[in-house]
Amino acid sequence: MTGPRAPRGRVLQVGPLKPSLAATLTSSYDALVLPDGREQGAFLDEHGASVGVAVTSGRFGVSGELMSRLPALRAVCNFGVGYDTTDVDTAAARGIVVSNTPDVLTDCVADTAVGLALDLLRGLSAAERFVRRGEWATGATFPLARRLSGKRVGVLGLGRIGQAIATRFEGFGCPVSYHSRREVDGSPYSYAASPAALAAEVDILVVATSGGAATEGLVSRAVLEALGPDGHLVNIARGSVVDEDALVTLLVEGRLAGAGLDVFEHEPQVPEALLGLDNVVLLPHLGSGTVETRDAMERLTLENLDSFLRDGTLVTPVPEVLS
Ligand code: 8YV
Repeated sequence: MTGPRAPRGRVLQVGPLKPSLAATLTSSYDALVLPDGREQGAFLDEHGASVGVAVTSGRFGVSGELMSRLPALRAVCNFGVGYDTTDVDTAAARGIVVSNTPDVLTDCVADTAVGLALDLLRGLSAAERFVRRGEWATGATFPLARRLSGKRVGVLGLGRIGQAIATRFEGFGCPVSYHSRREVDGSPYSYAASPAALAAEVDILVVATSGGAATEGLVSRAVLEALGPDGHLVNIARGSVVDEDALVTLLVEGRLAGAGLDVFEHEPQVPEALLGLDNVVLLPHLGSGTVETRDAMERLTLENLDSFLRDGTLVTPVPEVLS
């Protein structure tokens, strides 16, 4: 397939990808694979000028620095809905189009948010550890947990994923309110004027914003304090949205009831202080991690790549850098 596609340049894999996607890129697109570490400079000296498209994931992305080594780059296809690791401002300035994989992962990420809330409030993971440790068998009683049904839920970021989360919590009889950059027209949920105002009026604050500079530290210490000692935080968005140091301090000091976290500031590092806490549920960034959803993300990534190689357009361009 390299022949007719050559006019748009070589395909470059940036960062590890789902093995089947990486294999397809190599076998069907004759893709180059960006090495890491010390080999990278020499690789870019040799191949950088030939690269027209980069395929990457939210974990790695294409930085402005890497873009500067790829003068013929015209497209970035991102496996994942979040593209905060790709420098979209530089891409826009250079006319590089960027795609992501929206919609296909909405349900799974929303399911994960509900799963974290249920686990957190009912103490499911902690109770499971209690059984495995043999404590139940010795006659001990697991402490009473908290009820999820009917709790007041605040969704921070009422985009596609936030909406899907809200719908699910309605099924649990939870009154839902939200804060977003803008009030959403026609939304059935009540709008809070700020993240702190939202946190102050709910039992569970679910973070569902996008990542990147615009949301960095949005869930500040003040927001977490507003959530308070009976409040629970669930984060399926990006670790950067939450002041992680403040979160750890408040959890350790018992000034926040608990946290369910699928994402962290320095993945895959998780703050040491959280590892021993039973009122915290820790997941390895698996929000979209099901066979069905990752297959759909792979298909959409390849559809974007094919579309770009065919006529220079993308199927699902990111809003900041529309093709
Ligand atoms: C992926 C995600 O795990 O889509 C996203 O933004 O965070 C997850 O679905 C990730 O992008 C793959 O690296």
